[in-house]
Amino acid sequence: MKPFQWIWEYIRPYKWLIFLGLILVLVTSGLHMVNPYLSGRIVDDVIQKGETDLLLPLLALLLGVTLVTSILNYVYKMIFENVSQNVVFEIRKTLYSKLQKQDFTFFDTTRTGDIMARLTGDTDAIRHFVALIIFTIFSNFMLFIFALAMMFSINASLTILMLAVTPFIGFFAYQFSQTIKPAFMRIRERFSSLNSVVQENISGNRVVKAFAKEDFEVEKFTKENDGFRQANLATSKIREAYLPVLDSLATLMSVILILVGGILVIKNKISLGDLVMFSGYLWALNNPMRSIGWIINDVQRFIASSEKVMGILHREPRIQNVPNAIQNHHVRGNVTFRNVSFKYGQEYILKNIDFSVKAGETIGIIGATGSGKTTLVNLIPRFYECTQGEVFIDGINVKEMDIQHLRSQIGIAMQDVFLFSDTIEGNIAYGKPEATMEEVLWSADIAGVKEFIAKFPEGYDTIIGERGVGLSGGQRQRIALARALLKQTSILILDDTTSSVDMETEHRIHAALRSMNRKQTTFIIAHRISSVKDADMILVLDHGQIIEQGTHEELIKKRGEYYQVFLNQVGAFDPLVSQEVV
Ligand SMILES: Nc1ncnc2c1ncn2[C@@H]1O[C@H](COP(=O)(O)OP(=O)(O)OP(=O)(O)O)[C@@H](O)[C@H]1O
Ligand SMILES: [Mg+2]
Repeated sequence: MKPFQWIWEYIRPYKWLIFLGLILVLVTSGLHMVNPYLSGRIVDDVIQKGETDLLLPLLALLLGVTLVTSILNYVYKMIFENVSQNVVFEIRKTLYSKLQKQDFTFFDTTRTGDIMARLTGDTDAIRHFVALIIFTIFSNFMLFIFALAMMFSINASLTILMLAVTPFIGFFAYQFSQTIKPAFMRIRERFSSLNSVVQENISGNRVVKAFAKEDFEVEKFTKENDGFRQANLATSKIREAYLPVLDSLATLMSVILILVGGILVIKNKISLGDLVMFSGYLWALNNPMRSIGWIINDVQRFIASSEKVMGILHREPRIQNVPNAIQNHHVRGNVTFRNVSFKYGQEYILKNIDFSVKAGETIGIIGATGSGKTTLVNLIPRFYECTQGEVFIDGINVKEMDIQHLRSQIGIAMQDVFLFSDTIEGNIAYGKPEATMEEVLWSADIAGVKEFIAKFPEGYDTIIGERGVGLSGGQRQRIALARALLKQTSILILDDTTSSVDMETEHRIHAALRSMNRKQTTFIIAHRISSVKDADMILVLDHGQIIEQGTHEELIKKRGEYYQVFLNQVGAFDPLVSQEVV
């Protein structure tokens, strides 16, 4: 889709308002023709012929026209300003909604700074186009046509003579437009990079300080800042090379007028008043020629920004609902992986994963870091799509289910805990805002939030910072767990959720989870054997494959990989314990 076609979709609801605005522009352009005419009359009739009683009415008319023009000017500018604000409001809304629909892959591969640039600088360039450029193009075009008509009616050959420069203006204008377009694209890209550097620096400020990398960061920023400056300078260079040429060509018209017009007056071919009128209209002819450079400049800026914004708007998420996706299935919690393989890029991260879990069972997943545990559970809520094989919930392929419906029935505490800058209560109730305080307390109790909440004078009303600043790692994990529990779903995924809490607290949390009288299929990903040993089934992952599978006792007996991990964690310190368990 082309930028103009695209923006029209947003402008269409205001088409009558725009139409009214353009009518006012038309009237104003017409009124601009009156004053040069009146000035000519004053010169010819009042000054030359001495009809002094005409002076006052002509002056009054001059003033009246100026006043009306100013008022109309104000009205149509306000119309376009209003429309532009509404259009950009809609674009931002659509862009933001579209962002919500994007999948994990999009956020894996798109920098936050790029997205911020789309929502700020780019939408502003679009607003500028709607607010100013549309009417400027129309008004200049109309002024040009009107002035041309008036000038023709005074003296056709002089008009044609002045128009001789227009092909040159057309040629340079085209050249300018072609050269400046890629330059604007570069500016938009540089602006994105600059945004990304700033955003990452702010998010990672603690790492920066911990490694005393402030100078390095300033240098990195300076490089991007300089890149942005250079891109702007390069664009200005092009602009400043072309604009004076276009300007000079337009000025050439005045030279022709003074020269040829002067001769015609001297030779009495036209009156002095006609020459005054002519030079008055010359402005209306000249102005569009002069503005053409700026118009092209701003139109190209608009095109560059729209293409960037459209890039996000028209990107269809890879993970989408199939037609007639299932929306009314109440998940019971049976989960089956049938021969699932998965790759992010070229290399397979999961290979032939095949297992089945009955509703209400607890599944432990254990394995070295990078073995694919998170990737495996991410396939259940369809954060990514299996490359091969299928995932079923209660016998239904997850691909057949409505994505939001599916996810609303899965509670998940992610490995990378993210908390919003809100109260602790607000964070816990994020997935179920209508939850009562009892429910919040219930989940906080199980998750072990209750154990530390007393330390905060404002309790659950304590406001935490961005990403949960102000809380310890273990406290954050427990809030994330409470948030997942509160949803009371039939499937619960806990990805390394208790890794930052001490063993004792972890033990209490797991005991509380088991005592919940809900039938809830629970996936527990952990590095500690203690977190998974009570599971109904434990999967041991290695390089994306299930290498062992069974209960704690079965796996210990097997004396395989799980047993080795067990020995490393417990046995090495206390041989007695390990013997006891075996
Ligand atoms: N978004 C991604 N894009 C590309 N590769 C990824 C992505 N996420 C993970 N990987 C790769 O997939 C592999 C498995 O990652 P995964 O996060 O599933 O491991 P894990 O078992 O959860 O590890 P850990 O115990 O450290 O959490 C890793 O080699 C990792 O580099
Ligand atoms: Mg992981």
